[in-house]
Amino acid sequence: MTTSSSLTAPRYSRILGTGSYLPEQRLTNAELAAQLARDGVETSDEWIVERTGIRARHFAAPDQTSSDLALPAARAALEAAGVAAEEIDLIIVATSTPDMVFPSTACLLQQKLGIAGCAAFDVQAVCSGFVYGLTVADAMIKSGAASKALVIGAETFSRILDFKDRTTCVLFGDGAGAVVLGASETPGILASQLHADGRHVDILCTPGTVSGGQVLGHPLLKMDGQAVFKLAVGVLEKVARAVLEKASKTDADIDWLIPHQANIRIMQGTAKKLKLPLEKLVVTVDQHGNTSAASIPLALDAAVRSGQIKKGETVMLEGVGGGFTWGAVLLDL
Ligand code: UT7
Repeated sequence: MTTSSSLTAPRYSRILGTGSYLPEQRLTNAELAAQLARDGVETSDEWIVERTGIRARHFAAPDQTSSDLALPAARAALEAAGVAAEEIDLIIVATSTPDMVFPSTACLLQQKLGIAGCAAFDVQAVCSGFVYGLTVADAMIKSGAASKALVIGAETFSRILDFKDRTTCVLFGDGAGAVVLGASETPGILASQLHADGRHVDILCTPGTVSGGQVLGHPLLKMDGQAVFKLAVGVLEKVARAVLEKASKTDADIDWLIPHQANIRIMQGTAKKLKLPLEKLVVTVDQHGNTSAASIPLALDAAVRSGQIKKGETVMLEGVGGGFTWGAVLLDL
């Protein structure tokens, strides 16, 4: 029965559980450098660590797709939340490396979870995909359009890397992270903000497409690293401050900062600009590399499961990447 208080009570969303999955194959910088050297591509552990903070990454097996990585991450999040797959009424998968042109990776995941009927769709915002997906799910829950959502970032970037291009192939990895977001009378998600600037499509792109039964254009990732670096540093501070203001909070209220895990130098620069001690920065880029839309939920799950982030603490999530896209979500766990 619907009571008058439940009709008037404000409706929020909060994270009920987190999960993640990394494919089995783990390559250290030295192992990757040795493989690349066989094809005449020169790099070193020293260069990669010094410029990026990355020490290792995971690569999916040849027959593993993004929905295959998303499945164990989703199951782990459901278990942590104490929610059955059948209770989920919305699935959003953030990915730039979908299993196929269509159907969406979210529909493929829905099938693998053995559920049917709920809304399921992909969000394409490259490395900002998870904060985009979380913001959409939060809005749908607040509006009453959904009650329990699975929001997942799942990527197999190893499929779109040019292993002849040392400026990009050492940076990325594969993986998936998931959260179950549920309706709540008390706020979990406090505020969020999303942005894009399509004038910068060329600085980070995979411009190939499928046409007439063939791949047209360049189907591998291209990046102007320095241009991305400069833009990222500028927008990450700005959007974090905008979200803090929306939530009537200050940087002192942030217990943990989880920025997109692309480069430790960008992450530490953002923490410094927000006047946060580096101990408040969650870092997994060293072990995962840049997993695009999966990087934030992977880092969140690692920090929750290790006991680093505790229930009730305030966390700032920040995404930035191709598009150019960026955004932030402030939440109480
Ligand atoms: O996921 C979306 C967000 N993405 C990002 O945030 C990435 C942002 N960009 C970056 O993280 C950095 O720009 C990179 C890590 C991509 C590059 O670091 P950098 O300090 O900007 O290096 P650089 O591009 O200025 O290259 C410096 C040197 C060059 O050699 P010269 O011209 O100085 O002789 C490169 O050829 O390093 C060379 N280099 C390498 N050397 C060894 C580039 N890649 C490699 C490599 N191994 N893998």
